[in-house]
Amino acid sequence: MFPSFWIFLSLLCLQLSSAVRQSLPSGSSLSVEKPSDVLVSREGAFFAGFFPVGDNAYSFAIWHDNTKSTAESCFPVWMANRNVPVNGKGSRLSLFESGSLVLTDAGDSIVWSTDIVGSRATKLQLNDTGNLIVVGEKGDILWQSFDYPTDTLLPKQPMKRDTVLISSRSRANYSAGFYRLYFSDDNVLHLIFDGPTFSSTYWPVPWSRPSDQGRFIYNTTRSAFLDPLGHFLSSDNYTFFSSDYGAILPRRLAVDPDGNLRLYSLNNVTRKWSVTWEAMPSTSCLVHGVCGNNSLCSYDRLLGRTCSCIPGYFMVDQNDWSFGCKPSFQLSDGCSSDVGFVMLRDVDFYGYDYNQTSNTTLSNCRSMCASLCSCRGFQYTMSYTKRTYVCFLKNELVNGQNLPNFEGQFYLKVNKSMRFTREELEKRKQYYCTSRPVETLRRRYRQKGNSGVFNFMLWFAVAVGGIEILLVFVVWVFFYRDEQDTKAGPTVGVHSLGSGGDVKNIRLVPWVRQKMQESASNPTRVDEMVDPSLVGNYDKKKMETLIQVALQCVAEEREARPSMGQVLEILLQHENTE
Ligand SMILES: *[C@@H]1O[C@H](CO)[C@@H](O)[C@H](O)[C@H]1NC(C)=O
Ligand SMILES: *[C@@H]1O[C@H](CO)[C@@H](O)[C@H](O)[C@H]1NC(C)=O
Ligand SMILES: *[C@@H]1O[C@H](CO)[C@@H](O)[C@H](O)[C@H]1NC(C)=O
Ligand SMILES: *[C@@H]1O[C@H](CO)[C@@H](O)[C@H](O)[C@H]1NC(C)=O
Ligand SMILES: *[C@@H]1O[C@H](CO)[C@@H](O)[C@H](O)[C@H]1NC(C)=O
Ligand SMILES: *[C@@H]1O[C@H](CO)[C@@H](O)[C@H](O)[C@H]1NC(C)=O
Ligand SMILES: *[C@@H]1O[C@H](CO)[C@@H](O)[C@H](O)[C@H]1NC(C)=O
Ligand SMILES: *[C@@H]1O[C@H](CO)[C@@H](O)[C@H](O)[C@H]1NC(C)=O
Ligand SMILES: *[C@@H]1O[C@H](CO)[C@@H](O)[C@H](O)[C@H]1NC(C)=O
Repeated sequence: MFPSFWIFLSLLCLQLSSAVRQSLPSGSSLSVEKPSDVLVSREGAFFAGFFPVGDNAYSFAIWHDNTKSTAESCFPVWMANRNVPVNGKGSRLSLFESGSLVLTDAGDSIVWSTDIVGSRATKLQLNDTGNLIVVGEKGDILWQSFDYPTDTLLPKQPMKRDTVLISSRSRANYSAGFYRLYFSDDNVLHLIFDGPTFSSTYWPVPWSRPSDQGRFIYNTTRSAFLDPLGHFLSSDNYTFFSSDYGAILPRRLAVDPDGNLRLYSLNNVTRKWSVTWEAMPSTSCLVHGVCGNNSLCSYDRLLGRTCSCIPGYFMVDQNDWSFGCKPSFQLSDGCSSDVGFVMLRDVDFYGYDYNQTSNTTLSNCRSMCASLCSCRGFQYTMSYTKRTYVCFLKNELVNGQNLPNFEGQFYLKVNKSMRFTREELEKRKQYYCTSRPVETLRRRYRQKGNSGVFNFMLWFAVAVGGIEILLVFVVWVFFYRDEQDTKAGPTVGVHSLGSGGDVKNIRLVPWVRQKMQESASNPTRVDEMVDPSLVGNYDKKKMETLIQVALQCVAEEREARPSMGQVLEILLQHENTE
């Protein structure tokens, strides 16, 4: 479903751009079924229309010019109904003479409206700035989309005191997610994780006061503005310039589903969006809430951000890290005599401290946590002066991350009868994956018949699957005959450079796993695994990712294997960082 959805989306984007319509007069409507029912801004930089967000699911959206673009550059910058997509049949957006703009779903229910009463509208138009405007009789503005942003701020779109940008749930699910950019009570622009079970501010960094980080906290105007050249200025005196400052290019400032705030510009030659500024380095786990509670975030050069549960815990929702992990053991009240502790190296949890005690011993810290029923564990860390240790008792284990070379240890409270292997205590890598990629809307209309393209794709998929099964069978028969004396377990011929390119039969999976564990400094380890006829003709980083994914897919424990959606996400994620 997922690839066909993207093909569909890119076809739709290409198709939409051929239609031209500058405004919608009052008393008329745009239909989801007519590809030509799209509004275009005067200079052709923006489009507004029904945007596919899933299988037979649409949102009314605004996006940038995409005449030469692919699905990856077709980013919606605004959505009317991000949380409630409408059906692909019978849905429409209507402008009433009373001035209200109403989006109805196929079942005739009102999904979204602007609630304007008692004015007279003449038309709906899309301004060259990307602002969708309901124009009144005297040319006045009755309603404008700039007042209700979703996750994106465009150049010339003012950020006001009550403006909130809310990220989408994931790259493929446009519903409102957990990260927000807003002016908080201290008049400072903040990024906050506002998740299902906890909230946590992470930008500006929480361990020092905003005023110590150059933010001015006494300007109550609370406004910010991005100019078309790439300069951002906020009333809290926060300012930045994009790396390509000075060029007039399409730009968008967005709170991304991964919690980072980024400024993108559209390269006018390659037609691709590139990041020209970001609030925090993407190579860090500074964004809170990424992995939910009771879990650890790690950053890896190859895989990006990954999440893992702390030892003895497992994921609550296999498809969504934001729900975190829960314990697999029981602790009756958390403070009986049979609680124990396990030590985790290089680990830090931010926030939710019960209290902290300086200049204390480890055994003192341990007994304080053991006798406090709600204590979940404690951090025993070197103080700033590096002379004594500080003991932090934790109420909740949130915002956990792996910090290699962190000066201190974390002690996790567990049931004393639990035993952990060294590997369990040190394993910190699992794929970071979000919810299922495609939103399917229940169809309220029966399709008359599948289209030719769909039938073709279905048969194509069946044929490929059939050939694959046949090949596996042939290979199996071949090796089974060849190697009746070897022990159980699949064996496959791999080319080994060391033996001059001839084929040796070794057990493939353990061999590759061992190769990958060899020091990453061995530059030829990937070459040794790859078919020699390919040598040189591939991207080493991509190949490494593929091998890692393949290894993960044949992991012994079922839990450790990624789902198909997760695999796609890893591969797509890698594609996006190019
Ligand atoms: C619409 O765009 C024009 C320039 O193209 C600009 O002068 C005008 O202020 C814009 N109106 C709104 C409401 O954004
Ligand atoms: C507050 O911010 C606004 C907008 O950036 C600016 O025009 C104004 O001069 C600022 N006021 C003070 C007192 O800094
Ligand atoms: C704002 O920043 C500028 C330069 O970064 C500085 O000169 C000015 O004093 C700051 N204003 C306030 C009110 O902090
Ligand atoms: C692309 O943008 C640059 C900088 O604004 C400009 O100099 C150049 O002419 C543009 N090229 C095209 C093909 O529009
Ligand atoms: C953390 O997860 C547990 C489930 O193990 C839940 O009961 C608790 O409310 C969560 N706490 C926070 C702060 O998210
Ligand atoms: C530890 O686990 C055992 C078995 O699961 C249970 O009977 C015991 O009550 C647990 N101990 C605590 C302190 O909860
Ligand atoms: C922290 O809490 C523990 C347990 O209630 C208590 O024994 C200890 O004295 C407290 N430390 C401080 C500095 O308040
Ligand atoms: C830490 O405590 C010990 C005794 O409790 C005391 O002798 C020592 O001076 C303290 N160190 C600091 C840096 O406060
Ligand atoms: C998209 O996100 C929303 C809100 O978090 C959720 O209710 C919905 O089930 C998600 N859709 C899919 C297909 O996961």
